[in-house]
Amino acid sequence: MLRQPIGNHARNESMTHAPNSLAAKDIAYNLHGYTNWVLHRDKGPLLITGGENIYVFDDEGNKYIEGLAGLWCVSLGFSEPRLVKAASRQLELMPFSHNFAHRATEPVIELAEKLVGMAPEPMAKAFFVNSGSEAVDSAIRFVWYYNNARGRQKKKKIISRLRGYHGVTVAAGSLTAIPMMQKDFDLPREGFLHTDTPHHYRHAEPGESEPAFSRRLAQSLDQLIEEEGADTVAAFIAEPVMGAGGVIVPPEEYFEQVQAVLKKHDVLMIADEVICGFGRTGNLWGSQTFNIRPDMVTCAKQLSSGYLPIAALMISDALYEVIAENSRTHGAFGMGYTYGAHPVSAAVALETLNIYEERDIVAHVRQVSKTFQSRLQNLSQHPLVGQARGIGLIGAVELVANKETKDQFDPSVKAAQVVADRSQANGLIVRGLTGDAVAICPPLIIEKKQIGDLFDRFERALDEAESAIGGKSA
Ligand SMILES: Cc1ncc(COP(=O)(O)O)c(C=O)c1O
Repeated sequence: MLRQPIGNHARNESMTHAPNSLAAKDIAYNLHGYTNWVLHRDKGPLLITGGENIYVFDDEGNKYIEGLAGLWCVSLGFSEPRLVKAASRQLELMPFSHNFAHRATEPVIELAEKLVGMAPEPMAKAFFVNSGSEAVDSAIRFVWYYNNARGRQKKKKIISRLRGYHGVTVAAGSLTAIPMMQKDFDLPREGFLHTDTPHHYRHAEPGESEPAFSRRLAQSLDQLIEEEGADTVAAFIAEPVMGAGGVIVPPEEYFEQVQAVLKKHDVLMIADEVICGFGRTGNLWGSQTFNIRPDMVTCAKQLSSGYLPIAALMISDALYEVIAENSRTHGAFGMGYTYGAHPVSAAVALETLNIYEERDIVAHVRQVSKTFQSRLQNLSQHPLVGQARGIGLIGAVELVANKETKDQFDPSVKAAQVVADRSQANGLIVRGLTGDAVAICPPLIIEKKQIGDLFDRFERALDEAESAIGGKSA
């Protein structure tokens, strides 16, 4: 049942919370990721109590378009009954069994077969875990194990890009090259290297074309590998479109140029498809959109439409054969997660993939993304917007204090947060990111009319933000 909005999104931000209210208890007991803990004591939570289609509701009855699909994950919206049924069916049948020591369950086997069959490049097998971070962490461990098995004990370093986001375990967090996420966490650890951000708008030389910029970045990568010694560099990891680092769409020829360098130095390519996987860019995989030919693929989020935690690492046959032999040598492949390959999560993921196929979600994304991208591009006319960029159903605007010089706002202005706050006040949830980018990444089921509504709200938010911060330059 669709609850009607009763609020006008003017939430009670009175900074006081009734004793024993959920908000007060949240402040008292609950620690939040990616949150200013001191500010949270005053501000309290935005308490989400329900959802329907592309909308969510808060505890005051306000209705929002979830313009970030939760955290880039709820592809099928917040009320897909088939996913609820798949979970409850599996809970009744077999709520838990694991995947260690030759054990298996039906939904996991079926999911593995289906996922491997959908892979962007021929993959041999899938290894299931609980989160994108664990999938990336596993990829690193597989790479190290593989190179040890091949007698290449020195070939261990992993390269990611500055502003890349790959999760938060100690190893994945070493690849997440965003300052706030590494500072004071003692990251990155040794053996993790960072190369350039493929952000043409910000980092191209005057007059430099996209292909020329890509060539320069590939040369820089080549130089990094040579300086480190190719015999010490094992793998390169990249998101097809950088997500949390600011929705940075790669420039023309980028992955072709980069992969030529990787091939030359026998460095593995890991495609981190945690955001791009399952239709986001207008193909099933971001790798297909950008000509990436990975040796390993990580995926999560839209794998289960975010309904339950599940993620996967897929590996090529060449890797599998070497790793399998090494597991025999050691008596077993010595890692795994209790809840990796959870049968309930797997049942939901399997149903999600079935729905994508039956409804041809990729065709839908291609269809509605024309409207999405054209409304997004219109935003580049706005005085606060330096660049509007995107592909498929993902996009961002990069806010600038001066459109001519591309000068950024002083960090104290918190420009992206102001736009995100004004969006929320207009009934739209978006996310302010590093580099003053504001991301939009709605559920894949969004319809054209809803896209129009989303951008109408976002334009109002930008206008209001301009009144609040416009002219306060760097
Ligand atoms: C590309 C990418 N990789 C890895 C992760 C980490 O996933 P999780 O938050 O599920 O650990 C994310 C999360 O946003 C991501 O965007």
